[in-house]
Amino acid sequence: MPPTGSADASVGPLERGLAVLRLVAHAPGGRLRASELARATGLARSTVDRIAATLVRLAYLREEERALVLAPPLMALGAAYLRSSGIPAALGPLAAELAEELDESVSLAVPDGDAVRFVVQNTRRRTLSVSFRVGDALPAERCAPGAIFAADWSAGQWAAWRRRSLADPRDEGFPAVPRPSAPHLPEDGFRALAAAAGERGWAVDDQLVEPGLVAVAVPVLDPGGRVVCALSIVSHTSRHGADRLRELAWDRLQRTAGRMTAALKAPAAGRPAPAAADATADAKRAAGPQYLQSLARGLAVLTALGEGPGGMTLSEVAHATGLARATARRSLLTLQELGYATSDERLFRPLPRVLDLGYAPLSGLALGEIAAPHLAELVRRVNDSASVAVLDGDDIRYVVRVAASRTVRVALAPGTRLPAHATSLGRVLLAALPAAERERWLSGAGLRPLTGLTLTDPAGLAVVLDRVADDGFALVDQELEEGLRSVAVPVRGRGGQVVAAANVSLHAGRTSAEEARTRVLPALRETAARISADLAVVGDSQLPAPD
Ligand code: PHB
Repeated sequence: MPPTGSADASVGPLERGLAVLRLVAHAPGGRLRASELARATGLARSTVDRIAATLVRLAYLREEERALVLAPPLMALGAAYLRSSGIPAALGPLAAELAEELDESVSLAVPDGDAVRFVVQNTRRRTLSVSFRVGDALPAERCAPGAIFAADWSAGQWAAWRRRSLADPRDEGFPAVPRPSAPHLPEDGFRALAAAAGERGWAVDDQLVEPGLVAVAVPVLDPGGRVVCALSIVSHTSRHGADRLRELAWDRLQRTAGRMTAALKAPAAGRPAPAAADATADAKRAAGPQYLQSLARGLAVLTALGEGPGGMTLSEVAHATGLARATARRSLLTLQELGYATSDERLFRPLPRVLDLGYAPLSGLALGEIAAPHLAELVRRVNDSASVAVLDGDDIRYVVRVAASRTVRVALAPGTRLPAHATSLGRVLLAALPAAERERWLSGAGLRPLTGLTLTDPAGLAVVLDRVADDGFALVDQELEEGLRSVAVPVRGRGGQVVAAANVSLHAGRTSAEEARTRVLPALRETAARISADLAVVGDSQLPAPD
């Protein structure tokens, strides 16, 4: 590996920035204070602050009560690996089909150093307490795919495994795995399992992760005969023991692995990435001296690698990021030295280790958790309460609500239901229904009057809903409750479909309808756009971007 000179001032920030992201990603709840980061990294507090300021500016972390918290846009890094590998796109549907046929959990995992990392998960967990997400890692000696990968390990890989296994006997470096209930498998034992897996072409996990969990894995080969990943089926001893599971699933497992090999035929030629301007230059100008441009550039390079399935040349990376070749090259070499990228025959590719940068914890976020920080920001701006809700029968159901700190405010807990027809949230959601469904809703719902102003005529409401659909917002004036005015806009999912609505509720005596439109609505729209952008990365993020 060519020396990259990490002492070089231009690559140091990338290395330290990645270290910070990894520490926050491994911290409980994905949050860590800057002081804790300074302690864990040994860096000066001022250095940590600059790294943090840059990562916050890039929206990869957010600041919350003096802690740094993982933010959904960070998933773009792990998504770059998944897209570049092509595995979820090519093999995900076949894994889903197998899970459906067998009615058991089915996963795909790739080797990641001496660990195993999941890249596809179809979970049908019933009795198990642990459930892995895309991006989670397991020690190789504690799962079926590990024995399959270890069958091909070099002496150097065994040495690395031994070092880690001795240094971390409780698997603390694997936050997703339960602490081991028994001491690690001794090296002889694991070597025997690996050798057997290599000979037979399968491996079982008989409760290595936790009591009750059993799994059978087979290798998935590329057309050249190299092991690309392992296909596992996972069950519980209350249904089948490990050996019985293998007997039951064997034919289908083999057939699916064969179909996967066929699906891995030469990766589709990547579309050339569109040329980009160096976005990090503007940010540097705007953010001033706290901003670490080389960190931002390095992460831009890592993200860009997702655009070239199978690998990208230095020129392609420079083109896609708008960076000079020499700059892109320095970032690529640093990423390579740190184990986040690799290269062969002039092609650079991201490695599974990129998934260690917060992908798994972020992929588990629910709509309410994604929306809450954005609503809090909105409430700080407009000084009134904000919510996100979904349609549930005749009602809307609150998913999350952030109250303004005022003495007089409407108190509503998540889960609260209100009649859809009389609320701005409900009207936005109804306006987004397909025509036939909306018609059915209007004819079935009893449009109860809640104040003297409530619109209760289905035909009149249909006209209002058309307006809402055209305008992209709803303003409801004291139809739910006297003195309450509310404005709402749609929140969209990855494909642009309306998945929820966001609103601000206003005191009618304090905020006129005109002010709701001119002051509150633009801020609300920005908030909804941020929530939608987060949903676009979190939802289905292991799938390739649609054309
Ligand atoms: C899983 O997909 O969760 C899984 C797969 C193989 C194992 C353990 C767990 O050995």
